[in-house]
Amino acid sequence: MLLSEVDGLTAATPQEWDALRIKYLSKKGVVNDLMADFRNVPAEQKREVGMKLNELKTALQEKLAALKETMAASEDNHDDLDLTRTPYPVRLGTRHPLTLVRNEIIDIFSRLGFTLADGPEVEDDWHVFGSMNFADDHPARDMQDTFFVTRQPDVLLRTHTSSVQSRVMETMQPPIRVICPGRVYRNEAISARAHCFFHQVEGLYIDKNVSFADLKQVLLTFAREMFGADTKIRLRPSYFPFTEPSAEMDISCNICGGKGCAFCKQTGWVEILGCGMVDPNVLEANGIDSSIYTGYAFGMGVERITNLKYQVKDLRMFSENDVRFLEEFQSAN
Ligand code: DAH
Repeated sequence: MLLSEVDGLTAATPQEWDALRIKYLSKKGVVNDLMADFRNVPAEQKREVGMKLNELKTALQEKLAALKETMAASEDNHDDLDLTRTPYPVRLGTRHPLTLVRNEIIDIFSRLGFTLADGPEVEDDWHVFGSMNFADDHPARDMQDTFFVTRQPDVLLRTHTSSVQSRVMETMQPPIRVICPGRVYRNEAISARAHCFFHQVEGLYIDKNVSFADLKQVLLTFAREMFGADTKIRLRPSYFPFTEPSAEMDISCNICGGKGCAFCKQTGWVEILGCGMVDPNVLEANGIDSSIYTGYAFGMGVERITNLKYQVKDLRMFSENDVRFLEEFQSAN
């Protein structure tokens, strides 16, 4: 048998392969026969013939191993695989609209130099009310407005993110420039326009010589970034225990462009946040010297801003997790 013959061997089925193995490599196979004849080879040729024999044996073993592999590979050769078929669509999840808007708010204020701060949702009276200059008999301290976990000592669900102002001032000295996004709770009957929990973003800036003009400029920049470059703002005097003076800010209605529509009740303006200069009592209560520092603060409702951006008419949509609603935010990033 010649070495070159080995190359030409084929086996399409396990049976054919086995036949080859028996024919060449079994006890009574060709190779063993040749080995047996080896005895008769003249001594001076033994070396050369021996080498040839070994070569032949190895070549056969390798060939059979290779044939076995090709056979195994062709067993699962996926002849029915259609490489031109379009892939199954990947179902991507969507971000919650409130998350999208919160992230956008964070983005805008980050660009203005604000960093993030955080505080607990289960709070004590001091951080939610006391440190924020609420009078002892303020109605927010009433069970009608606030969810209490325990009373005396009072442990409650924070009713606003202003509590994080106090948390921040406890651990930092000015300059302070933070925004605090988070969930807040109020004892309200759930309806299309009110919910027992919602989301706010609080802002706080304290440094030397911070003025109301600084506040106004930052809020104007925010409004334009959020609602478009020709958005107008107006500030109306208001009252909050923790700011003096206080204001509420309206933006020109982004639905009718300020002309007047049902959404803005024909006024052309919609309210989006409360703000003011941090009351010196608040600075002092939180360990900051009000003779050196001044500051401003603001707080906005994320649901409110989301409603304006996406015209969600019913607040309950945000917490019902109806996928038909959530999937509408598919294209937003
Ligand atoms: N905490 C207020 C609320 O929940 C919102 C607010 C108003 C926050 C004025 C502020 C502010 O920081 O200066 O209605």
